[in-house]
This record gives sequence, C-alpha cells and structure tokens, in this order.
Amino acid sequence: MLRPSEVLRWLLIIFLFARGHARQQCRLIQKLDVQSGGDHSQLPLSANPTASSQPSQTASATPSVTPFNYGQDVIRGVNLGGWFVLEPWITPSIFETTNNSNIIDEYTFGQMQDSNVASNVLQNHWNTWITEDDFVAIKAAGLNHVRMQIGYWSIPITSADTNYSTSVTPYISGAWPYLLRALSWAKEHGIHVILDLHGAPGSQNGYDNSGRRGSASWAQGDNVARTLDLVRFMAAKIGGMIDVLELLNEPGGFQSDIANVIPQFWKDGYDAVREAAGSSLKVMIGDAFLGVDNWDGFLAYPEAQGVLMDFHEYQIFNYDQIELSQDQHINYSCQVLDTLSNYAKSNLYTVSGEWSNAITDCAKWLNGRGVGARWDGTYQSNQPTLGSCDGYTGNMSTFSDDYKTFLRRYFESQVAIGEAVQGWIFWTWKAENADDWSYQKGLEGGWIPQNPIDRLYPNICAASGS
Ligand SMILES: *[C@@H]1O[C@H](CO)[C@@H](O)[C@H](O)[C@H]1NC(C)=O
Ligand SMILES: *[C@@H]1O[C@H](CO)[C@@H](O)[C@H](O)[C@H]1NC(C)=O
Ligand SMILES: *[C@@H]1O[C@H](CO)[C@@H](O)[C@H](O)[C@H]1NC(C)=O
Ligand SMILES: *[C@@H]1O[C@H](CO)[C@@H](O)[C@H](O)[C@H]1NC(C)=O
Repeated sequence: MLRPSEVLRWLLIIFLFARGHARQQCRLIQKLDVQSGGDHSQLPLSANPTASSQPSQTASATPSVTPFNYGQDVIRGVNLGGWFVLEPWITPSIFETTNNSNIIDEYTFGQMQDSNVASNVLQNHWNTWITEDDFVAIKAAGLNHVRMQIGYWSIPITSADTNYSTSVTPYISGAWPYLLRALSWAKEHGIHVILDLHGAPGSQNGYDNSGRRGSASWAQGDNVARTLDLVRFMAAKIGGMIDVLELLNEPGGFQSDIANVIPQFWKDGYDAVREAAGSSLKVMIGDAFLGVDNWDGFLAYPEAQGVLMDFHEYQIFNYDQIELSQDQHINYSCQVLDTLSNYAKSNLYTVSGEWSNAITDCAKWLNGRGVGARWDGTYQSNQPTLGSCDGYTGNMSTFSDDYKTFLRRYFESQVAIGEAVQGWIFWTWKAENADDWSYQKGLEGGWIPQNPIDRLYPNICAASGS
C-alpha cells in the first residue's frame, strides 16, 4: 500500500510521462518498469480511498493525442462497461461473493457490507478489470474511441466547488485516480475518450447501471443543480484530457418529471462545459428515450457548437422487440439507420453510442440481480416464452455455427447504422459470462471482424427490403 502523497507522486509521473516527447517517454517507461516491477497494469494505486481521490494536477494537461475530426472521421469504439460503475450482469462474481442477494447494485454494495471489504474488492476491480493491455487490444482491433462510465460518487468535488452536498454515502469513492490512469493509457495508445456521467445523484433512470436500482429521483430536490456542478468540475479538471464529455447517460424521459427538466439541463450543462473548458471539448447529450426526432433543432448551430447526440440501440428490452425473428432484427437495424441518418442530416452529429449483439435478454442478471429473462419466460408471467436460453449467451463454446453466422450479420447491420451517421460504440468490451455482449469474445469467436469495417454482407440494408 502506498501513502496518499505517494499516489499523487505516481500520478504526476504518469502524466509527465504521457505528456513528454517520445524519447523522454522511453526513458520514463524504463524508470517506471524498474520502480513498479515492470508491470504498468499493477501500479499500486490503491490507498486510503477518500484521501487518494484528489487528483494532483489536471487542468493544465494537453488535449488527448491529435484532435479527432468529428463529423469527418467515423467514431468506432467500445464502451468500457462495468469498470467504474458496477453492473451485476457484467461482473456477477463481484456480487456473488458478497453472499448477500440484497446487494443488487453499487449503492447496496457500499451499504450492506463492511466498507473495508467493499473498498478492497472495488480497488482490486478498478485495478484489474481493464488494464493497459486492453487499450492496446482496442487499438489493434481498429477502434479509435472508448466511452468510459463514471458515477457521481467517484468525482472528487469539494465544498469549494459546489454549494450542494458533497456526500456520497453509502457509495465507495476512490475510482478517480484509476480513471486518470486510464486517460493516460488512452493518450499513450492513441485512443480518444468519451467520458460519460453514468450515475447522477438520485439516479436518473432507476436502473442498476445508474448505481442505484429502484426509483429515479434525479429530478427532485437539488440533484439537477448538483449534477451541473459535477459536470462543471469534470470539465475544469479533466476537460483537457478527454475528447467528449457526455453530460448524463440515459436520463429516464419516460418519467414526466425527468422529461420536464432534461432540455434545460442539456442547455445548462453545455454552458457549464463551455465556461469551464472552452470550445474544443465536445459535449454529448442523449435522446432520453424520447427518440431523436423529439430533439429536432435542439442545441443546433449556431445556438451551440460541438454537440453530439447519443442514441442507444437495443432490440431486446420489450416484448415487441424480443419477439422479432433474426431477419426482422436485421430489418429493425435498417429502420434505425433511416431514422438516425434523417435526424443527423439536419441536426447534431449523431452516434450510436450503445448497442450489442444480443437478441435475447438471457445474460444472467441482465434485467437486474435475481430478475429473470423475457426470452425463457422467467421475467414476468402471462407473457409468451420464446424458448430456452441455452446457446444464446454465456460461454461461446455453446454457440452454434448458425448462431455465430447470424451474430456476424447482425453486427454488420448495426455497424452500418453508425457508419451512416458519425459513428458507433459497442456495448461492451468485456463481460465475465455473456459472450454475446463482448467485443473481445466476438473478435475471438470470429463474428466480429479484426478490421471492424470488413464486410461479409455489403449493402445489408438494401438487401433487407427496408
Ligand atoms: C461467502 O461464503 C463463502 C462460503 O461460505 C465464504 O468462504 C466467504 O468468506 C463468504 N464471503 C463473505 C464476503 O462473507
Ligand atoms: C455558492 O453560493 C455563493 C453565494 O450565492 C456564490 O457566490 C458562489 O459562487 C457559489 N459557489 C459555487 C461553487 O457555485
Ligand atoms: C421491416 O420493418 C418495417 C417497419 O417495422 C416493416 O414495415 C416491414 O414490414 C419490415 N420488413 C420485413 C421484411 O420484415
Ligand atoms: C468456455 O468454455 C471452454 C470450453 O468448454 C473452456 O475451456 C473455457 O474455460 C470457458 N471459458 C470461461 C470463461 O468459462
């Protein structure tokens, strides 16, 4: 274990190393190798989580690699899901080893067990789930972006930065230094970064992936104003080290109180980023489950500049979609392609920011810890059962050749969506036991091509009859 002051020194070394010239970098790499036993991925960042969550220096860092030419070059990327915001289905083992079935999200993970135990598990997870090798592999897979999730509880805002509460109880803080290290890896390996505020105070959607499953009370009390201060803080501290700041992931516009506040939040968040970080940092907003057409003309030039629209494209979270045949799923992708490209033509740069290869909701705990699947009838009674989950998720050794052939076609149909607009970001790079959701396993299993724009099914949408 290092003392907090040593952690800060390490971070300084990492950033000097990331900022230096190539020759200097080589020398520093050697130095780091000696001091850390030759393994960068094992840099001992763990320490007192509260004390280590203060970044030493940040705002003066140079922008990441060569600026990405948004709108000209296509975003091709993966999400680093389940890293700084836990999701039970991505890392079920972390939840299983608590021996407590009431621990269903990161909130209860901090609340319902000894905080030293929780903190140790999380520090180990932050240190190992994604390593520098993953950035190397992502680059080698022909990808140019990662989208990284962060929860508000990991942002080291202080009472000097906000007039609202800085308490994150019962969440366990301490991920911030690991995020900073990830930004240095991204820069080192020429990967651009979209930083995505994935969990806001009160939960913006009630999903476990917001940190807290249950009700979405983000629109209540001080939560929205507090979130704006968090956005401003991130833009000021690390705006120079990322390419895009996404103001908030998936606010639940299906709830009227959230639908009412979200347009003004996007505008205020945009202003906060511009004030704190200037004009080069891009700002990402989302459709809030209302469809992109709901945002026609919104935050468009010249009212705003450098804004991107994030649309998430899943085809499994309601019965109408999950009942589609394989061919109908391809057709569905092509419908989305039409909708997004029509919107993008006269609106914001548009990104298909989350999508996967899953055509079932069979991945264990995908719908929440202890919750079943629509596919096999274990989610809800009085609904049709589509079949057994066997062979659709989990270990790809159970996948049939026909299924893998379909996964390739389906992958291409969804890449086609992103290629028709300003880009795409697959959900997710890795998952413990859900290979249909894993880019890494797709590369290994051959249903994701080593060059992401290689085509076995060119003109897939023209062929689908859409
Ligand atoms: C969970 O149960 C196993 C088996 O009884 C035990 O070895 C382990 O220490 C328990 N873990 C916790 C966090 O209590
Ligand atoms: C807190 O409130 C005071 C008084 O209204 C104001 O001057 C100050 O700028 C606020 N601080 C922040 C960080 O918003
Ligand atoms: C494709 O989807 C559209 C819209 O949902 C539908 O009208 C059309 O019939 C579908 N085509 C096929 C071949 O399934
Ligand atoms: C997947 O299955 C193969 C073959 O049975 C096995 O070798 C491998 O360890 C399994 N992978 C995981 C992550 O369980």
